[in-house]
Amino acid sequence: MKITIIGSGYVGLTTGVCLSHLGHQVVCVDNDVEKIKLLKQGISPIYEPGLEELLKEGMEKGTLSFTDSIEEGTKHGLAIFICVGTPPREDGSADLSSIEFVATRVAETMEEYKLIIEKSTVPVQTGLKLKTTIELNNKRGIEFDVASNPEFLREGSAIKDFLYPDRIVIGVENERAEKLMREIYEKIDAPFIVTNIQSAEIIKHASNSFLAMKISYINAVSMVCEKAGADVKEVARGMGLDHRIGKEFLNAGIGFGGFCFPKDLKAFIKISEDLGYHMNLLREVLKINQEIREYFITKVRDLLWNIKGKKIAILGLSFKPNTDDIREAPSIYIIKQLLKEGANISAYDPAAMEKMKKIFPDIDYKENPYDTLGDANALLILTEWEEFKNLDLERVKNLMKTPIIVDGRNIFEPDEMEKLGFIYRGIGRA
Ligand code: UDX
Repeated sequence: MKITIIGSGYVGLTTGVCLSHLGHQVVCVDNDVEKIKLLKQGISPIYEPGLEELLKEGMEKGTLSFTDSIEEGTKHGLAIFICVGTPPREDGSADLSSIEFVATRVAETMEEYKLIIEKSTVPVQTGLKLKTTIELNNKRGIEFDVASNPEFLREGSAIKDFLYPDRIVIGVENERAEKLMREIYEKIDAPFIVTNIQSAEIIKHASNSFLAMKISYINAVSMVCEKAGADVKEVARGMGLDHRIGKEFLNAGIGFGGFCFPKDLKAFIKISEDLGYHMNLLREVLKINQEIREYFITKVRDLLWNIKGKKIAILGLSFKPNTDDIREAPSIYIIKQLLKEGANISAYDPAAMEKMKKIFPDIDYKENPYDTLGDANALLILTEWEEFKNLDLERVKNLMKTPIIVDGRNIFEPDEMEKLGFIYRGIGRA
């Protein structure tokens, strides 16, 4: 099928290269001319394992091309995916102006039947507004349908999550749209949920909010564990074996970051309250996510007494391992606070340092974890990169001025660290 992707960012580009890989004829549109130039050279503007290979494959097969023209894209695709950004506004609501702009341009340009599919994460009822916008601007009265097809891609595993999803969700208003959506995804073996547009939109917000709630839940439990002398890792293990709970997303730590959970939570709270339901439960999820960062900093203060003038080594800046993305990363808040209190910070991250330099240019960035440790009063672990789990701890201890480790992602075990002579604090550890 001829398919157009409008918005070649993280979601759009992943969708485009994967649909091309599945044999569709894909055109990706973006208004960022520089990005389109890179893509035409087969260079991916985002760091995502496996993406660049599929990008090159599609271009070699001739099933993938790029343009900065919405008109060209509209003419090409029978199905048009809208994957533009829906960033948060001050009040937490999603900014849908890009969606409206794209929908208007498609409506003004289309000359034959189109299936317009919202893939960007949007508040419920956006699909209805999308349909109205197209009707208002569809001067030639061309037939069209609107569908919702939310994405469930995680950074660092987006290609895998697209090609081997737990489920495919579509929201449609008629059989014709459903048939086309089934044709788009026919080569993917996964449960195929067909529902109405609003339900599909809520599935996305409700899923992400639930995952974030699960994280805040175990973080709340971790604070009780610590006071009670329990170990949250053992508690999570005991909980997770119940198949109704599951072990995923029960890792206590300094909380969730990334561009999705915080944004989607705020948007879901806002739309729920606009619709007349107080979503206090999710407000509490956000509150706990902030509390756990404060809780972590309090541990650092307790161990160092005065932060002012102390040298603090930080390992891990990205919001999670295997990505260079620092958006809403807990490290940003923690570093800001420690700098405010006069700490001297050295830091290392395998992928995210370039991006962090834009926010904190004055930190002493090092090219490997050990170089951050010379004369350090404390070491903070903020992202659980695999390489940090294999550090030579004897060497770590000999490099540091005082052997204090505050582990924001519980990558080490308290009793082992004590035996090695460290003063060690995790999150929720006995
Ligand atoms: C998330 C959803 O998983 C994905 O389905 C959705 O499409 C986009 O948002 P992502 O934000 O890329 O994906 O990362 P994810 O792996 O979900 O982690 C989000 C945050 O939660 C990270 O900061 C991670 O450190 C944190 N996290 C995750 C925990 O603190 N504990 C856990 O047990 C799991």
